[in-house]
Amino acid sequence: MASEIELIDIQAGYGRAAPVLRGLTVAVPAGTIVCLVGPNGAGKSTVLKVASGLLTPRSGRILVGGREVTGQGPQRMLAAGVAHVLQGHSVFREMTVAENVLLGGYTLKNKAFVAERVEFVKELFPVVADRWDSLAGLLSGGQQKQVEFARSLMVDPKVVLLDEPSMGLDPKATATVFEQVVRMRDAGTAVLLVEQNARRALETADLGCVLDLGRVHISGPASELLADPQLGELYLGGRPAEPPVTPKV
Ligand SMILES: Nc1ncnc2c1ncn2[C@@H]1O[C@H](COP(=O)(O)OP(=O)(O)O)[C@@H](O)[C@H]1O
Ligand SMILES: [Mg+2]
Repeated sequence: MASEIELIDIQAGYGRAAPVLRGLTVAVPAGTIVCLVGPNGAGKSTVLKVASGLLTPRSGRILVGGREVTGQGPQRMLAAGVAHVLQGHSVFREMTVAENVLLGGYTLKNKAFVAERVEFVKELFPVVADRWDSLAGLLSGGQQKQVEFARSLMVDPKVVLLDEPSMGLDPKATATVFEQVVRMRDAGTAVLLVEQNARRALETADLGCVLDLGRVHISGPASELLADPQLGELYLGGRPAEPPVTPKV
């Protein structure tokens, strides 16, 4: 299956500092959720910034739908079909859900297409339909995340980049958000998901990659990564707790 986005041998970093990404290669096949896991500071958000054109790589290539788009800025990347849902919360709390979602389509000229996309995201995210005229700030964290998802899908992207969508959510809201990620995939958008909550993310994803020292260290079907005991111990918080030390009296 062709890849919606490919990052090939990417070197990237900030200013004069040593590169954060050092030869990173990752591809997102159509119809899949690819999950990139790694500890805090490993460079996960940096990968997504490169993928959406917010950060220009020092070297390497980016292909979207097989077309070379290396060096394009965020507007061109969005037009090429790459939407980015940033880490943290990016809804405008004092605006309605409707206004927030419509912002995602502000680059679109065709009104009929916008109306079509509104119907599509309302169907995909029932909370968006139910709370359409509410102020976004009144929604729960998990509901706000779904508003962000809906906003990102307005342009009908080929691939959506999700940066730690479960951050700050309770387990129930996290479960709902991951269910919605699956629905996005099933509705035709490939997903590059970045998560610190590695185990949960790999349970949702089709393919997984482990980011270490600026490269993809291990990759494969998510179920295989989950089953790998060594990986579990190193990256998935799978090491059993140390037995309590009994003080000698
Ligand atoms: N805007 C920035 N300017 C300078 N350094 C940054 C910036 N953003 C991230 N970094 C550095 O890049 C490294 C990777 O960060 P990041 O991609 O945010 O990691 P992760 O998302 O995996 O937690 C860290 O060392 C971080 O301090
Ligand atoms: Mg991050």
